[in-house]
Amino acid sequence: EKAGFDHFMLKEIYEQPKAYRDTMMSRITEDSKSVELKELGMTVEYIKSIRKVHIVACGTAYHAGLVGKSVIETLARIPVENDVASEYRYRSPIITPDTLVIVVSQSGETADTLAALREAQRNGARVLAITNVVGSSVAREADHVLITWAGLEIAVASTKAYTSQLIAFYLLGLYLAETLGTQEASHIADVIAAMQQLPEQVDSILEQAAVLKQVAESISHHKHLFFIGRGVDYAVAQEGSLKLKEISYIHSEAYAAGELKHGTLALIEDGIPVIALVTQEELYEKTLSNIKEVKARGAHVLGIANAGAEEEVSKSVDELFAIPKTLPILSPALSVIPLQLISYYASLALEHDVDKPRNLAKSVTVE
Ligand code: M6R
Repeated sequence: EKAGFDHFMLKEIYEQPKAYRDTMMSRITEDSKSVELKELGMTVEYIKSIRKVHIVACGTAYHAGLVGKSVIETLARIPVENDVASEYRYRSPIITPDTLVIVVSQSGETADTLAALREAQRNGARVLAITNVVGSSVAREADHVLITWAGLEIAVASTKAYTSQLIAFYLLGLYLAETLGTQEASHIADVIAAMQQLPEQVDSILEQAAVLKQVAESISHHKHLFFIGRGVDYAVAQEGSLKLKEISYIHSEAYAAGELKHGTLALIEDGIPVIALVTQEELYEKTLSNIKEVKARGAHVLGIANAGAEEEVSKSVDELFAIPKTLPILSPALSVIPLQLISYYASLALEHDVDKPRNLAKSVTVE
């Protein structure tokens, strides 16, 4: 049932191109100019009444929501807040009938996420569930449902569910933007065209797995490391850090690149690995100067940057892994792939149980 792969996690990593296609399929019009999400059952009138969005989830799904915030704010210009589901109810969030609460859950059974959904509905807000399981508790109780068609995910470490959640947010952001008229039709068509290239671009990253295996093997000798980035790169850094901790048990922290010098830089010492995501063109210069700060303290930096920017970035890093060029907002759907593979191979090198890491369950049904 692992289809020739050594672990479910690796199989699921390689299933991502298909998961992207399946999640996009039938939601993009034949002329590739428009996103169709009638399945949500939201009227134009309702969409126009949304004043703010709360995205609530746990773990990896929370990290997908961080990208979702950028997507919805950039494309649809609706303000978005992110919350970890176990915190949401206890901070007395301001939930009004014009708040759309989006809960994100692979399993659709996470106790805290379900409780957040109920809290939102109790306060008169509508809930949209982005979930991978048709008929799950979250799917049944939500007012609107957007299914990610990633297929069954068995490994505890989420991979294809996360990236399918990103695709769901891109579709949703475009749909809201079209309905609200916040983007030119030509821009919408450009984003769709770039999305349609993602599956092949993921394949081209997967072809370079051997390079990432080497990176992972050298990382596996370390006790601590850092992931840094700005904007959506910071969101992906957080997901990369969680994945590595979860299955390799190596301690890591994700930091907003510009925030290091406000304290954490003190932890950078000779030889410490830093993985720097540098995919946001307008932030290159700033991130590169943050990379110089860690290099000056002896860090060994792996840069993950766009193809085409190698020359600019390679001068500042020790090693460079290039991902295919895409639109800035879509880059998480590519840049997370090398991080998933690094985590996988680090766990493998340390001989851990990749698919069933210690202390963890696939679905967390207690609060
Ligand atoms: O099923 P859910 O998406 O609600 O699960 C949420 C988290 O428990 C989950 O993403 C967890 O963080 C993963 N094991 C991370 O790989």
